[in-house]
Amino acid sequence: MTVASAPGKVYLFGEHAVVYGEPAVPCAIERRARVTAEERGDGRLRVDADDLSLDGFTVTYSGGPEDRPDVDVPTGLVEAAMGYVSGAIEQAREAAAAPETGFDLTIESDIPLGAGLGSSAAVVVAAIDAATRELGVDLAPEEIADRAFRVEYEVQDGQAARADTFCSAMGGAVRVQDEDKRRLEGIPNLPFVVGYDGGAGDTGELVSGVRTLREEYGFAADTVSAIGDLVREGEAALEAGDVAEVGRLMDFNHGLLSALGVSSRSLDAMVWAARDADALGAKLTGAGGGGCIVALDETEGARTALRYTPGCEEAFRAELDREGVRAE
Ligand code: PMV
Repeated sequence: MTVASAPGKVYLFGEHAVVYGEPAVPCAIERRARVTAEERGDGRLRVDADDLSLDGFTVTYSGGPEDRPDVDVPTGLVEAAMGYVSGAIEQAREAAAAPETGFDLTIESDIPLGAGLGSSAAVVVAAIDAATRELGVDLAPEEIADRAFRVEYEVQDGQAARADTFCSAMGGAVRVQDEDKRRLEGIPNLPFVVGYDGGAGDTGELVSGVRTLREEYGFAADTVSAIGDLVREGEAALEAGDVAEVGRLMDFNHGLLSALGVSSRSLDAMVWAARDADALGAKLTGAGGGGCIVALDETEGARTALRYTPGCEEAFRAELDREGVRAE
């Protein structure tokens, strides 16, 4: 039996602009998905996922498209979850040159699903690591990231970015720009607080909304480039250990995202609650439209304020996690 875990992520800077070749800085957070893998002799896959804020399910199947799991939760959710899990297992089988191997898998995650916190990437990264090590093969985190990206790319019909899978596999703060991705070293502790409105925006719609604005208005294109400039300033502030400046730039980044039309009333309410509680900075994270904000606050102030903010369903501390995928 082999256990691996991998972290979720927030965007410190740069979502949306990253689609147009600007840099972005996602950060791994101390909320993890854990996968236990045990080889089984009959070539089948049994998946136990009772802690995914779905309703929990257990399925045994051979992984073929005709072999639908018979469970009592919305099929769309289970099919998406199964797509990620069987894709991860395909990658592990290929990496270990063991195409026929079956597995018992148990998945537990404390990353809210579909909230822009990279839950699917964390599950895929941890599943690839657990299943390959169960077969005696140790992959480098970069290779796990690459294989996990291929799974997301397939399941999400080519709509996946490399940020989530790379960040989850490597841990810490990473910089992504087109094909170029690397970990940022020597950065200070980042006391993140996450506020979650219980919902999620439609990433495809939000991305295409920004694309239209950018094509229509020169100043919207300038806003996207301004986010790129801000990310470069942000990297310098991170490397200088200037957390207060990082917070100011997060505030600015939220304003620019808001100008591009991707914030929402609940996201703005959470951002302002955190700011009013003297957080160093606060912004939406991910595609926007709903979902999560991330604030920077060493004290309990922002979390307490978020808990009393109408529309905020959950508020939790999730500091920068310097460790990526790891054996448990
Ligand atoms: O909501 P998330 O974490 O999937 O982030 C989306 C990030 C975008 O920049 C808006 C889109 C993308 O593919 O990079």
